[in-house]
Amino acid sequence: PTHITKVCCIGAGYVGGPTCAVIADRCPHIKVTIVDISVERIRLWNEGPLPIYEPGLEEVVGRCRGRNLFFTTDVTRAIEEAELIFVSVNTPTKTSGLGAGMAADLKYIEAATRMIVDASTSNKIIVEKSTVPCRTAQSILTILENNCRPNVCFQVLSNPEFLAEGTAIADLQAPDRILIGGMNSPAGKDAQEALVKIYSNWVPRKRIITTNLWSSELSKLAANAMLAQRISSVNALSALCEATGADIDEVATAVGWDTRIGPNFLKAGVGFGGSCFHKDILNLVYLCESLNLPEVAHYWKQVVDLNEYQKTRFVRKIISNLFHTVSNKRIAILGFAFKKNTGDTRETPALTVVDCLLAEDAQLSIYDPVVSHEQMLEDISSLRRPNGTSNITLNTDVYEACKEADALVVCTEWDQFKTLDYKRIYQSMRKPAFIFDGRLILDPIELRQIGFSVEIIGKSQPITSAWK
Ligand code: NAD
Ligand code: UDX
Repeated sequence: PTHITKVCCIGAGYVGGPTCAVIADRCPHIKVTIVDISVERIRLWNEGPLPIYEPGLEEVVGRCRGRNLFFTTDVTRAIEEAELIFVSVNTPTKTSGLGAGMAADLKYIEAATRMIVDASTSNKIIVEKSTVPCRTAQSILTILENNCRPNVCFQVLSNPEFLAEGTAIADLQAPDRILIGGMNSPAGKDAQEALVKIYSNWVPRKRIITTNLWSSELSKLAANAMLAQRISSVNALSALCEATGADIDEVATAVGWDTRIGPNFLKAGVGFGGSCFHKDILNLVYLCESLNLPEVAHYWKQVVDLNEYQKTRFVRKIISNLFHTVSNKRIAILGFAFKKNTGDTRETPALTVVDCLLAEDAQLSIYDPVVSHEQMLEDISSLRRPNGTSNITLNTDVYEACKEADALVVCTEWDQFKTLDYKRIYQSMRKPAFIFDGRLILDPIELRQIGFSVEIIGKSQPITSAWK
């Protein structure tokens, strides 16, 4: 197969950056150049602080940058010299036109494809790393073949990324599997083998799966849909737990012991967030609709609908417990990132909670150990509430955030929230002092002993009168 010595990655975001940094780390014989149109992003990758927060990333970048890992805005040159190019640009949900609010916006994929073909003077393997609707590789190939210089050939592979934020480096260093889809021709197989060889530098061969292009593209949407479905299933059950006295953690553990179901990814909570689940399921739903499969579309749409229900259900619980009014009450929001160990706030359930509470005229003080205040303000401004951000206080100290609050609302499962001095916090709060745990990380018994009223998703209040 083609022997790869130079790789280019288009898109220096959450996926392109960490993925290609790990490739550079594990393949010192390959020169990896990551390009982006954002001058600021590239500057941060080169000069720091790194544009994304990800445990272990700094060490990897520190080892390789300037050795065989380069960040640049000189897209043309990087494409020209590479034998293999990852396309790792964003594929957000369309905001207008056909499929608005559902379909993936493929304009960045198309722009990257045209940049590639314009700059290419030799054969290249193009690798779809972005998450795309099934059959996008066909469009990419058609654009390439209709615009290429004579004697320049392209192969297109699909190599979706399965990393999760917060654990990206560990996921990349020891992936469950690597999936590579390619054309079923000799040249297609050759290209597939070239990429297999790169990953074989650190991934056991049996974990590298090769399939046809369409299976690979669809598997990414399928994996995200099935992961999110587990969360919506457990969240649906959490509502039932609250109504019956069952405990969702106990139910999830009992169910998860079945080896066919498995214990992971069954944590109930305020709802899933992040840049992928919501977007990719809607992408799948739109694909089903456009292929005239309305029942299949409806089935997957429910995963998203249940997630919306869970977020507003949590807010309703907060408001009804606070005597049906939060007007001018001070509520501390603990955690703003969509999950722990990331500074990413895309689709964060915390923003939905903030939005609903601002609509009820609450005063919010927000604390997150990693998300920048600038980012929070940008997100909250995007809600376009009449009072803007005037009912918001941003805190760098968690105890300050809780001071004089009527209630604390845990929106992100940061480890530090488990070990706060809750006695001290209780004393500084207005009474009755409430805690709403949207992530099931706190110990209700301990907190109730201190004096808190505690409400946890998927858990009902303890039984107060026992049988005599
Ligand atoms: P991101 O927005 O963080 O990064 C994308 C980058 O591409 C941006 O920096 C943007 O400036 C750049 N870009 C766009 N068009 C360009 C062009 N023509 N030339 C050069 N640069 C260009 O997005 P992300 O989170 O890294 O996601 C990228 C893709 O990976 C998406 O399709 C996403 O669905 C998928 N994905 C994301 C994750 C995740 O955890 N974030 C996981 C798996 C897959
Ligand atoms: C996800 C997929 O896991 C990953 O494979 C894919 O490449 C990108 O999308 P990510 O969104 O980064 O990764 O994080 P993930 O750990 O999947 O969490 C997504 C959301 O689900 C978070 O808001 C998280 O808090 C929530 N979640 C996760 C739960 O509520 N319960 C769980 O049991 C697991």
